[in-house]
Amino acid sequence: MDDAGALRAELADHLLGTGVLRDPRWLKAFREVPRHEFLPRFYRQRHDGDWEPVTAEHPGWLQLVYTDRVWVTQFDGDDTMTGGTPTCSSSMPAIMAIMLEALEVHTGQSVLEVGTGTGYNAALLCHALGADRVTTVDVDPQLSARARERLHRNGFTPTCVIGDGARGHPAGAPYDRVLATCSVTTIPPAWLEQTRPGGLVITTLHRPIGAGLVRIVSRGDGTGEGRVLVEDGRFMPLRAHARKPALAGTGAFDRRTTTLPMATVVDPAGPFEFFAGVALPDVVAGQDWLGHPDGSWVHHHGSHVDQGGPRRLWDLAEQALALWEDLGKPRRQHFGVTIGHDGQFLTFDGRRWRL
Ligand SMILES: C[S@@+](CC[C@H](N)C(=O)[O-])C[C@H]1O[C@@H](n2cnc3c(N)ncnc32)[C@H](O)[C@@H]1O
Repeated sequence: MDDAGALRAELADHLLGTGVLRDPRWLKAFREVPRHEFLPRFYRQRHDGDWEPVTAEHPGWLQLVYTDRVWVTQFDGDDTMTGGTPTCSSSMPAIMAIMLEALEVHTGQSVLEVGTGTGYNAALLCHALGADRVTTVDVDPQLSARARERLHRNGFTPTCVIGDGARGHPAGAPYDRVLATCSVTTIPPAWLEQTRPGGLVITTLHRPIGAGLVRIVSRGDGTGEGRVLVEDGRFMPLRAHARKPALAGTGAFDRRTTTLPMATVVDPAGPFEFFAGVALPDVVAGQDWLGHPDGSWVHHHGSHVDQGGPRRLWDLAEQALALWEDLGKPRRQHFGVTIGHDGQFLTFDGRRWRL
């Protein structure tokens, strides 16, 4: 076995050992598909926050490729940038494994992947299902062309489409599965319309607080019913679903004491964060502040908060915590997802909140 093969086996065993990988088909795919062929160049963030390119000439490149890490490959949709907002990456193998397992896809079934990116995930799909069952779409023509070339060079020939993945790809519909490797604020209706009744849509939700990985069963008419999965999933957004940054403002404010720590509201590892996101839609968080596009803001100073703008966001956060406790402290996996003609909702115990 060559170096890459040994590193690949190690990564696959790690994914198996942590329990994210179970299906022998995906295990085989992770063992055999060469991630390094799709990552000849990526960016690593230094301690000072700057990004440095890592290329095949770098002595540690191959080892880094086969670590369980996300590797950014593009910023601001521009291949010449070496910093900014990441717009393409090869996702963390663990989250790829989680999403591939969640697909529950069977031999002979077809998959539409939204977000071709480097092409690595499409290669895993082709390996397991056969290239004739895989369609992958990316909005960025250069990324798509490059991925297609790398896929072909490695013997994978899925249908590669350039276009807005929010529209799906009607020409190849109906699909048995839709898998989005970029996140969305709401589920594009085309995904459910182009999925066979009983088929699945797997995607992550792009929410500044309380993001989530969801699986929705299609009814075949653009509606569906599903669940938030226990695993957390945070992906870069579909380009049109990126949010404008909201910042904590200045101006007149009220100051009062609080016993609610900021981390309780915004720490993704905490039990309340998902519900905080449900109760505070569109609220963006920094380390010690919250902001909303309507101009409402909070500065958290440990034992007290300043609140400004039209609404008192920290009052709402405290009310949300009280409601969450009354509801029995539900975790993300206890919430349903309803995609109806009347709107898209997260649901729990007869209540619903608009996505
Ligand atoms: C996290 S990367 C996908 C990772 C990829 N599956 C891989 O294995 O490398 C997200 C991708 O979504 C693409 N994307 C963003 N907005 C899109 C849209 N509206 N339609 C299709 N693709 C989009 C980006 O260009 C980027 O390549």
